[in-house]
Amino acid sequence: MTAPFTVELDSSPGRRQGEERFVLHHGDETREVVLHDYATVYSVPGLYEEVVQQRLQCASPATVADALIEAGATVGTAPGDLRAFDLGAGNGVVGEEMVARGVTVVVGADGIGEARDAAHRDRPGMYAHYLVGERLDGAEVARLVREEHLTALVAAGAVGEGHVPVDALGELWSTFPPGSVLALTLKDGGPETGDHDVADVDTMLAGFDDTTVVVRRRFRHRFSMAGAELTYLVLAAVRR
Ligand SMILES: C[S@@+](CC[C@H](N)C(=O)[O-])C[C@H]1O[C@@H](n2cnc3c(N)ncnc32)[C@H](O)[C@@H]1O
Repeated sequence: MTAPFTVELDSSPGRRQGEERFVLHHGDETREVVLHDYATVYSVPGLYEEVVQQRLQCASPATVADALIEAGATVGTAPGDLRAFDLGAGNGVVGEEMVARGVTVVVGADGIGEARDAAHRDRPGMYAHYLVGERLDGAEVARLVREEHLTALVAAGAVGEGHVPVDALGELWSTFPPGSVLALTLKDGGPETGDHDVADVDTMLAGFDDTTVVVRRRFRHRFSMAGAELTYLVLAAVRR
């Protein structure tokens, strides 16, 4: 089925990720949309997948799901025994990658209600719970981790870069039991760019004396709209 919209990406060089934009022709309407205006992007079914997954070839969802499985194997946990909390879940692209690998996806969370609505619209039934909030209620998360026997915390392209703060990630990780797996992708443009998300996460994880990083690789997260390769780090850790 042809999507009822077309897009023209703005390939002007030098734009930061948060500034990238495209023109959306949708029905009778034409408007400019900033890629990080997620509320608008998620409001059109298939738009996120077309721009981010197809046109910009975003590899983070598949890469984080592979790292999760790989890290689980280091502690003898089969994919089917992983029960995941998908942080910054958006409309469920990462959840779908995990389900495809046999993981049970239980909870999604995002800063905006439009992401929750899009996840329920596009992937109905995948998330049993979907939390909304820029800063989640730690007690509520701890209760879900306990009652739903969660064993995996996953965040693709959702930590740092103006998204989930690293200390909030640390608070969530502290609620997961021994044997759990953390898998995330982080912007890592290299030391010359001033990116500090990787350093911040390393410092946060060093504060957990029971947590060991078992997967750490740089990869092409996606192309920028100007055609440059954007490099991220995939990192997975286990709690002994
Ligand atoms: C680049 S998108 C990635 C979405 C999804 N993980 C994927 O890979 O398809 C980043 C997501 O993080 C969400 N986000 C931003 N700040 C957040 C916060 N403080 N807490 C939870 N989610 C947040 C955004 O709304 C958006 O859905």
